Amino acid sequence: MNEPLVLGIETSCDETGVGIVRGHTLLADAVASSVEEHARFGGVVPEVASRAHLEAMVPTIQRACSDAGIALRDVDAIAVTSGPGLAGALLVGVAAAKSLALALDKPLYGVNHLASHVAVDQLEHGALPDRCLAMLVSGGHSSLLLVDDITLGVTPLGATIDDAAGEAFDKVARVLGLPFPGGPHIDRAARDGQITIDFPRGLSTRKDLERHRFDFSFSGLKTAVARWIEAREASGEPVPVADVAASFQEAVCDVLTRKAIDAAVSNDIDTIMIGGGVAANSRLRALAEERAAAKGIRVRVPRPGLCTDNGAMVAALGSELVARGRQPSALDLPADSSLPVTTVVA
Ligand code: KG4
Ligand code: ZN
Repeated sequence: MNEPLVLGIETSCDETGVGIVRGHTLLADAVASSVEEHARFGGVVPEVASRAHLEAMVPTIQRACSDAGIALRDVDAIAVTSGPGLAGALLVGVAAAKSLALALDKPLYGVNHLASHVAVDQLEHGALPDRCLAMLVSGGHSSLLLVDDITLGVTPLGATIDDAAGEAFDKVARVLGLPFPGGPHIDRAARDGQITIDFPRGLSTRKDLERHRFDFSFSGLKTAVARWIEAREASGEPVPVADVAASFQEAVCDVLTRKAIDAAVSNDIDTIMIGGGVAANSRLRALAEERAAAKGIRVRVPRPGLCTDNGAMVAALGSELVARGRQPSALDLPADSSLPVTTVVA
């Protein structure tokens, strides 16, 4: 049989993504973002995101089909993010996917957003190894997962106990006066800065590690940065934005890479996959490579455009599910804003 041709729809946050893949080959990755509509609020406004998805859905599907040079009737299956994410936003993608599945008489796969962030790397670096450690770092999640067969499930090893890594980037960017979303701006600012401030590393003391070896905490770091800036402003001195950005970024990347490598080594795993929007961070990529190489561990990170939310990642997971003969979802598939990370197909 030919490799499956799968269309994937992603609407869990502020990106309307429609991707088309054949097996592990990316044919189209159309994304319409409403990020600019949220910028003045300093965060994603759920209702604004839902309406933007509604407007962008049909044109984005058409653009993806035209980019891939296919007609909708050619696809073998429809995959869609059914959770986790913003309820109203997810609902738009799920409704669109159900309509397509019904009208085209094709199987429907409601998939987990986080598992899609892992599966997307197959489009860039080929099949995932039999066993790997996935570190997912995005605006909503920071987790370490053991992955054997991504279509069957993942085993969570640890996660953030407060803010997600991307959320910390966004909040620190805000106090530094940088635009939303802050991650890319901090990344850029940090390139001109020096790591001069020793910000706290969350859940890293010996006592913390006993209970939270593979968990993260970024809320204390965020507060420490805000206090540092306030003290600086109170003393009338200018805030060295580039140095604060570099020092904050180092504190996040240091903890993330240290814990990911510890998790890989202690589980005898030789491949670490990094996914989610924060995986686009240049320092995280460099530090992970450097520290993993020292332990003989391979790091796989998709290119930045595939790390942030997109439809290709959903199609990538869908195509793997079809290829492995997994059961599709029912047509009454719900949007589940708190779908657990352990549920790959809803
Ligand atoms: O995966 P994603 O697109 O959406 C969620 O599922 O959350 O991740 C978005 C997050 C935002 O917090 C954004 O600031 C962060 O990823 N991000 C970055 C970079 N690019 C995006 N954080 C650090 N450095 C970057 N270069
Ligand atoms: Zn995401």
